[in-house]
Amino acid sequence: MTAINFRGSMMKILSAALVTATAALAFSLTAQAEPDGEAVYNQACMACHMTGAAGAPIKGDADAWKPRIEKGIETLYTHSIEGFNAMPPKGGNLSLSDEETKAAVDFMVGAVE
Ligand code: HEC
Repeated sequence: MTAINFRGSMMKILSAALVTATAALAFSLTAQAEPDGEAVYNQACMACHMTGAAGAPIKGDADAWKPRIEKGIETLYTHSIEGFNAMPPKGGNLSLSDEETKAAVDFMVGAVE
């Protein structure tokens, strides 16, 4: 009898822990889902990519972006994350995740495609 009660309460504790873990997982998946490229651009890229500061290709300038897009999106991702000449890694905002940086690249590339 005692053993059965013990198992019963262990199951309750375990299932409560499972629910908590599942909720935490669901939350972190939601938090990471689809970074907002436009928001990242506005926060971390616009200062140079709206004005052309330091020779940055201006968002929406198809001629400036064409030869860059021809290098392939993976190259642009790498250059944005690791830096490229006067382009600082992640636009100088190292708190950005790789995914957020890529979303901002997609946003700028999407503006000229
Ligand atoms: C401090 C100014 C500055 C900021 C901020 C900045 N960039 Fe740049 N970016 C540049 C410059 C300058 C270049 C041109 C580098 C070159 O071609 O020599 C460049 C080039 C690029 C390129 C083209 C790379 C290639 O291979 O041709 C991409 C993509 C890019 N930036 C993405 C971003 C993203 C995404 C952000 C924001 C997270 C950002 N940049 C923020 C200055 C900046």
